[in-house]
Amino acid sequence: MHIQKNISLKKYNTFRIDVRAKEFVEINSDEEIQSLILSGILNNKKFFILGGGSNVLFTENFDGIVIKINTKGKKKIKEDSEHIYLLVSAGEDWQNFVEYCLNNNYAGIENLSLIPGTVGAAPVQNIGAYGVELKDVFYELQAIEIESGKKVKFNKDDCEFSYRNSIFKNKLKNKYIILSVILKLNKHPKIKIEYGNIKQELEKSGIKNPGIKEISNAICNIRRNKLPDVEKIGSAGSFFKNPVVDNKTYFRLKNKFPEISAYKLPESKYKLAAGWLIEECGFKGKTIGNAGIYKDQALVIVNHGNANAKEIINVMKKVQKVVYEKFGVKLLPEVNIV
Ligand code: EPU
Repeated sequence: MHIQKNISLKKYNTFRIDVRAKEFVEINSDEEIQSLILSGILNNKKFFILGGGSNVLFTENFDGIVIKINTKGKKKIKEDSEHIYLLVSAGEDWQNFVEYCLNNNYAGIENLSLIPGTVGAAPVQNIGAYGVELKDVFYELQAIEIESGKKVKFNKDDCEFSYRNSIFKNKLKNKYIILSVILKLNKHPKIKIEYGNIKQELEKSGIKNPGIKEISNAICNIRRNKLPDVEKIGSAGSFFKNPVVDNKTYFRLKNKFPEISAYKLPESKYKLAAGWLIEECGFKGKTIGNAGIYKDQALVIVNHGNANAKEIINVMKKVQKVVYEKFGVKLLPEVNIV
């Protein structure tokens, strides 16, 4: 374990923001994490746990230690006639893991194809796409408490999952480091293709009874068409959450803007498509300084090259202001702003 000093984080965040970390350490095993904690190096020090860096906006040089989790490994821990339980190390790349599951015919995460980031970060924000969320396949995780160095298990209820949220973004923020996650996958796929235009995408290729590989391919195609490739253009995926509003607000808006895009939720709530609100305000494809709104998906703020965090924040604020003035709805960032 080697603690490096004054390291640029540009290649470690998909927004490609060029800030520096005072200290930076890469971790390759659970034991290394434990000894880092027990050594007391983290005491009274700011720290940041980095996975794929795909959901973070660094706004300034990080005056502390960035801990990059690189732990690898996946293991079958049990199975029954219906399910297979896989224990996966936090540093595994999410998409590599999805491909491993597709190749072994383990079903349940095909709709979560091509989401950037690591397995350990997936429960933190309960990643989701195309009608599936991580919580749907989550069984348990193991984390280490930073204060004590003790290993602790969290089951699904303990994690308090909700839309792009978990206990690790709230009450337990900065209290634990996730070591590994156990997912409960299906041996017999339960196909979910109702959401968005998955069906149309499958029809385009003439597929009638899709398996998990076909669904994954369709979703990869949809995502590639709508979302920027983080290897080519800096972004952190959806910058904002889709806002949830009550009945009254929804019908007020629907009345004024009949085309509004929204999904009905339980308890008389509606989730509005923030992308629609932002597009309706004329932001889609707009460049503001070195940053802007992606041309094919208005929920995504992009770095056109050399944007600094101020320019990204500037776009965020402009969008929030104009959307609020037009619709009376507050957009909150989904991205972790540090
Ligand atoms: N829309 C527009 N204009 C846009 C974008 C969207 O009008 O520029 C409207 C369309 O009516 C569309 C609806 O919004 O039908 C929904 O759009 P889309 O299916 O692209 O999904 P989203 O709500 O914009 C969410 C997630 C994505 C996830 C997709 C698919 C959030 C914050 N974002 O986006 O997740 O891939 O659904 O399930 O919930 C991410 O979290 O980084 C992410 C990309």
